[in-house]
Amino acid sequence: MLEINDNEIHAIGSVLNDNSRPLKERFRALFTLKNIGGAKAIELIHMCFKDDSALLKHELAYCLGQMQDSSAVSILVKVLEDVTQEPMVRHEAGEALGAIGDVNVIPVLKRYSEDNVPEVAETCQLALRRLQWLKSNDPLTTSQNSPYMSVDPAPPTEIRDVKKLKDILLNEDIPLFERYRAMFSLRNIHTPESILALCEGLKAGSALFRHEVAFVLGQIQEEITVPYLQSSLENEKENEMVRHECAEALGSIATPECFNILKKYLDDNKRVVRESCIIALDMCEYTNSSEFQYADTLQKVAV
Ligand SMILES: [Fe+2]
Ligand SMILES: [Fe+2]
Repeated sequence: MLEINDNEIHAIGSVLNDNSRPLKERFRALFTLKNIGGAKAIELIHMCFKDDSALLKHELAYCLGQMQDSSAVSILVKVLEDVTQEPMVRHEAGEALGAIGDVNVIPVLKRYSEDNVPEVAETCQLALRRLQWLKSNDPLTTSQNSPYMSVDPAPPTEIRDVKKLKDILLNEDIPLFERYRAMFSLRNIHTPESILALCEGLKAGSALFRHEVAFVLGQIQEEITVPYLQSSLENEKENEMVRHECAEALGSIATPECFNILKKYLDDNKRVVRESCIIALDMCEYTNSSEFQYADTLQKVAV
């Protein structure tokens, strides 16, 4: 947690909640609040759910989940229940509830695991499986599963054989939770073979599954994935949640080629894709500049 006084945290919160500010500044403010943590930060993030950017709102939910603070549970339950929120926002609220790991949300997750929106239903099924898994496993070992410092929707498996993991990943008869477990194992193995197996996942399964593959490829940040991410971003028939995640993954890989691909979609028909490209290009700049630090961001947004 960062040391910061009330005035500073409010200044950051007002950047987040000011829709006249550039989206990239609001994102940076959000991630700063996530790193600060605590009740004030959560309250300021909560206020922003009335915004009209689905991209920003889904990121609010993501951050609340990653903060793993139980005091955000009631906020996230309301977002999940609110059918006027976009599917991608409700999905992220469900996933965040799984990430926080509070067993009190089991009845809510059960209810929404039959939601009409497949992305929401599948997310809640996964979150339920994660909570069950947490109950039967040691929390100390479970928190150290991701080398990427992320709280993942499923833990990796004990299987190390890439071929076997790939078969599980791509087999649509296997429960989604097991396929997610294979996905995170393939991510953690991080060899060209395991990464290319993941890339095949971009063309398999449900939209939720494909968007998670894209997210994981963004964590891996390897150039060999660029053509696969590009092809899904380019495919206008692909679900916008998947295209959004491909754009952000390209932003985190941040090569000049990624930069050029992303620039082409700044005028995409889908708002969430356009906005993702704005954020992704900001990530490219961030990765390619040495001067950016969270401390700098704090100062920048606090003035
Ligand atoms: Fe997501
Ligand atoms: Fe996302």
